[in-house]
Amino acid sequence: MKKLQVELGDRSYPIYIGSGLLSQSELFTQHIKSKQVIVVTNVTIAPLYLPAVLKNLQDYSTETVILPDGEQFKTLDYVAQIFDQLLARKLSRTATLIALGGGVIGDMGGFAAACYQRGIAFLQIPTSLLAQVDSSVGGKTGVNHPLGKNMIGAFYQPQCVIADADVLDTLDDRQLSAGLAEVIKYGLIRDIEFFEWLENNIDALLARNKSALAYAIERSCINKAEIVAEDETETGIRATLNLGHTFGHAIETGAGYGKYLHGEAVAIGTCQAADLSRRIGLLNDDDVTRIIALFKKTKLPVEPPECVDTERFLDLMAVDKKNVDGQIRLILLEKIGLATLPVDVNQDLLKMTLKTYGRR
Ligand code: NAD
Ligand code: GLY
Repeated sequence: MKKLQVELGDRSYPIYIGSGLLSQSELFTQHIKSKQVIVVTNVTIAPLYLPAVLKNLQDYSTETVILPDGEQFKTLDYVAQIFDQLLARKLSRTATLIALGGGVIGDMGGFAAACYQRGIAFLQIPTSLLAQVDSSVGGKTGVNHPLGKNMIGAFYQPQCVIADADVLDTLDDRQLSAGLAEVIKYGLIRDIEFFEWLENNIDALLARNKSALAYAIERSCINKAEIVAEDETETGIRATLNLGHTFGHAIETGAGYGKYLHGEAVAIGTCQAADLSRRIGLLNDDDVTRIIALFKKTKLPVEPPECVDTERFLDLMAVDKKNVDGQIRLILLEKIGLATLPVDVNQDLLKMTLKTYGRR
């Protein structure tokens, strides 16, 4: 087992990465300081992994909330179902919430923990690759709104993250590729060696080679933990984690939540960001080609959907947490391994990218 640390002063916490972690009771119990525990999961994960988690909690008074599965349920209404259960079962402020699932459950469970009685302890047990390499680390929690993705939320750090790589065995191939989109992101924004390693090892990752996956999870979490430690609440460098996300969020919202997986939308959005970076004179043609080639090799889409046209993109991109005074700001790439901070983009060049990149 590898143990990393997210260094945030008195809110620091460990990330455990390894095999067989779901059955290591002490990993759970050492981070639970209460008698009452509530496990939040979904209908897909519950039959697969809830029994293993509950086995570690036999000495606790434990409730479970099983939500429907899907990005379209990442809403305030479904977080309210968690509150209903917390209140109906009279859980106190000392209770601990365990979020067991992918990024949707992690974001919703974390947000419920942040709000219930103004904050209860919570543990992240990420089960998708995307959640293990990104969403479970760093304390961004929240839900979608029909007018904008992840627009309602809070920064709220967990007590620990337990990433058991064995659970990826049941993740389908499409979800695995979607998780790899966020893995590639770390290479692009700050870790060229990792990007090169990914170019050479993408087939092993897609074939679920255990040591390749373990390395990719660990290196991603190291990158994420360093960024979060430097800029917990995204006043600077953390924004680089949003490479491709402003385009991607517009695709997710515009196409309808759940049509494109988050990682798929990020892959397309990152290619659009690369195209725009080239137009403004940052990236060279070869780097753009390399980036698109790696996403394609990862079996990810690289072209925006017809249903989101330029006007719709601009409308949706105007609702983004990086925007200042209504001005769209984007993370772009200076080169592979180096992202910019948010930049005010030239509207004409942005429109050129939206109109031409990936459009037949
Ligand atoms: P998800 O939570 O919808 O999980 C993907 C699918 O895989 C779901 O159907 C889920 O039930 C299933 N699944 C998960 N683990 C499984 C397993 N081990 N075996 C079988 N099936 C499994 O989506 P995701 O890709 O994990 O996360 C995407 C969400 O994360 C988005 O809402 C995105 O906005 C959010 N996100 C948040 C952050 C953050 O910093 N908080 C970062 C990136 C993404
Ligand atoms: N996934 C973006 C962030 O954690 O900041």
